[in-house]
Amino acid sequence: MRWALWVLVASLGAVMSESIGRAGDEPNYDESKVPSYELPDPLKSASGRTIISPEEWRRVRRPEILKLFTEQMYGRAPKRPEAVLFEESLIADNVLGGKGEFRNVRIWLLGRREGPAMDVLLVLPKKAPRPVPAFVAMNFRGNASTHPHPKIPLSRNWMRNDPRRGFVDHRMTEKARGVAASRWPYEQILDRGYAVATVYYGDVDPDFDDGFQNGIHPWFYRPGQRRPAPDEWGSIAAWAWGLSRIMDYLERQDRIDPKHVAVMGHSRLGKTALWAGATDSRFGIVISNNSGCGGAALSRRRFGETVRRINTSFPHWFCENFKKYNDREDAMPFDQHMLLALIAPRPVLVCSAEEDRWADPRGEFLSCLHADPVYRLLGTDGLGTKTMPPVHRPVLTTVGYHIRAGKHDVTALDWKVYCDFADRHWKRGGKSERRGGAAK
Ligand code: GCU
Repeated sequence: MRWALWVLVASLGAVMSESIGRAGDEPNYDESKVPSYELPDPLKSASGRTIISPEEWRRVRRPEILKLFTEQMYGRAPKRPEAVLFEESLIADNVLGGKGEFRNVRIWLLGRREGPAMDVLLVLPKKAPRPVPAFVAMNFRGNASTHPHPKIPLSRNWMRNDPRRGFVDHRMTEKARGVAASRWPYEQILDRGYAVATVYYGDVDPDFDDGFQNGIHPWFYRPGQRRPAPDEWGSIAAWAWGLSRIMDYLERQDRIDPKHVAVMGHSRLGKTALWAGATDSRFGIVISNNSGCGGAALSRRRFGETVRRINTSFPHWFCENFKKYNDREDAMPFDQHMLLALIAPRPVLVCSAEEDRWADPRGEFLSCLHADPVYRLLGTDGLGTKTMPPVHRPVLTTVGYHIRAGKHDVTALDWKVYCDFADRHWKRGGKSERRGGAAK
């Protein structure tokens, strides 16, 4: 009896200390509880030198920052394959009210037929003068989830289960066609004269922690290697690497203009889009949507998701070295404003949603603000404001920021803003052309 009582007390204690532990994990959503912090200066080199010219930025500071993010956060990815191998096929002509065409492009990721391939869905406007500008964006649920058309091939790769929406036994079924269509307003995008290239991110690396045994990683292991080294790529870097393989293909066709390609991504794929933009300057515009922690939001604010939370829930997203900064944000020699700065002087648009506090909208805006000095040093107009704009009042300067009402999601309104931003910076369209012209 006494023994039983002791077990009861001991296990109660364990439960309590666990719940106390968890209470400590409660995300902070109170602005007044954001700790005070000092951000590393993107314009001060590791040796303490102040960077005062674009030339010094390019020669000294940018490579330093890129190395930090590469080795400490996202991880080193392999070089691009020497060959580019792809196969195109028409899925359907005359779709989207006769305005568009769906094509499939299978790209072999290693540049040879052995090894993994990804299927890119191209959505092309029929009428626009070619080559057209395009958005490249990964999707979460397979290309066929982006539109209900019956001929878009169903992905056969691993997917997170969601039987109600047609994801069963980790596979996509017919029922899942079009389930994500609200995030992909293709007709509206085609009307604006843009094409879209989208791919299921799981074609590159399935999004679960299996110690990097599946997906692209093992194909690059050295003999005897079992998992990436502490400074080698996690899944986000792998997805970003996959986006660059789409660029390799785009440089070899003539429907889409490879000089006018914007990379866009939502949430974890927003983090991915930012890293792809930072590492591959072929992306002319970079757009993150609700990317949050590990994306556009400043880590030091510890508002909503924190470094420890993200590394615990998603141990495979970043490289192993990033775990050193769990609960040690102030020790990071970088913060996410410097990720945006790596994209400079190319236009970057950071998009938040008001109710998406987990992603820290204010922290996303502040990253833009603190990236601004680099953008200005490089001769652009930077971020055209010092105060966070209210909802639905996008700032479309070279560092753009947009916050809309509502939840963590991608909406038709968001796409309108992406197109406005691209029009402006690529000087397209009537009204926006004049606006873009005036700002430069
Ligand atoms: C989780 C995660 C975020 C991520 C999001 C998503 O909420 O904590 O960091 O952005 O998933 O990708 O939907």
